[in-house]
Amino acid sequence: MRSIEWHSGTVRMIDQRLLPTTFQMLECESYEEVADAIRDMAIRGAPAIGAAAAFGMALAARQSSARDRDGLLSDLRAAAERLKAARPTAVNLSWALSRLMKRAKDGGDPAAIRERLLEGAQALADEDVEINRRLGEHGAALIEDGYTILHHCNTGALATVDYGTALGVIRTAHEQGKQIHVLVDETRPRLQGARLTTWELQHLDISFTLIADNAAGHFMRSGQVDIVLVGADRVAANGDVANKIGTYKLALAAQDNGVPFYPCVPTSTVDLSLSSGDDIPIEERPAEEIIGVTYHGQPIAPDGIQVANPAFDVTPHRCVTGIVTENGIAYPPLTPNLRRMVQAST
Ligand code: MRU
Repeated sequence: MRSIEWHSGTVRMIDQRLLPTTFQMLECESYEEVADAIRDMAIRGAPAIGAAAAFGMALAARQSSARDRDGLLSDLRAAAERLKAARPTAVNLSWALSRLMKRAKDGGDPAAIRERLLEGAQALADEDVEINRRLGEHGAALIEDGYTILHHCNTGALATVDYGTALGVIRTAHEQGKQIHVLVDETRPRLQGARLTTWELQHLDISFTLIADNAAGHFMRSGQVDIVLVGADRVAANGDVANKIGTYKLALAAQDNGVPFYPCVPTSTVDLSLSSGDDIPIEERPAEEIIGVTYHGQPIAPDGIQVANPAFDVTPHRCVTGIVTENGIAYPPLTPNLRRMVQAST
């Protein structure tokens, strides 16, 4: 089953807020509901929110009562702005919206535009699955029999349309018959590792151990990690990588211990318009995500305290061993080699 799909005039997605205890689909009947689902993280993960935005545009085209082309394009521009504002860091969101807007502008009359947008969203979703499989094949070449892989956040079928990026690499290595073990970072504060990655690995019958984020350095220093695989929400032209908060510390510990560190990304996650990671917008999320949990039924912090909750951090390119894409692995110097990977898709 895909994490998101078009279903009888609605956009249907797995509601990831309820996993691992409840598997339930969320049906969005308007693009505004899709934008809310992205913001509230019913659907999350850079490629998955790109696909959600694309299907949101197909919905917006149907919702619009415009009878002429200019009126429809104006309604679509407003929808794209609303969808884009849902989350700022993952570039896949604006990448998908630009692709769909271009399709709309190249379309004919309103009926043709509506049709083209649905076809465009479906194609983007289908491509995502095919890209992840190619990425998985390239990345699996890095995984040897017996490897222990450290993984952060969730980059699996849930974070994409299907199959996954870094988790797709792990999945391909497993399908190739390699004996592997995954150390799963719990990924505070939203616990995508504990809630979602363990759920996916359990279903795939891949061996894993859940660890506290703070334990990752210990496992690397004691020689228990062969490779670190993560996803990304945006990669700048120089190879700086924005990913789930905590990734930077992992990369530093990996570098200090000689453990290879590979972000695994579709080329749609590479933003060549930004020369470095300093320009990547970092989403700040509600304090509730950090202090809204309880320990033995008690709040984990006193009332009224100041909380900061950046959802992503930037790992400098000097800490990156290589970047796995669907077109191959880019190694340093990352600026020209990453560009070649992106150009191979255009
Ligand atoms: O806040 P999230 O859960 O959307 O963050 C997701 C990540 O950081 C993933 O690592 C990234 O989007 C890559 S998913 C293939």
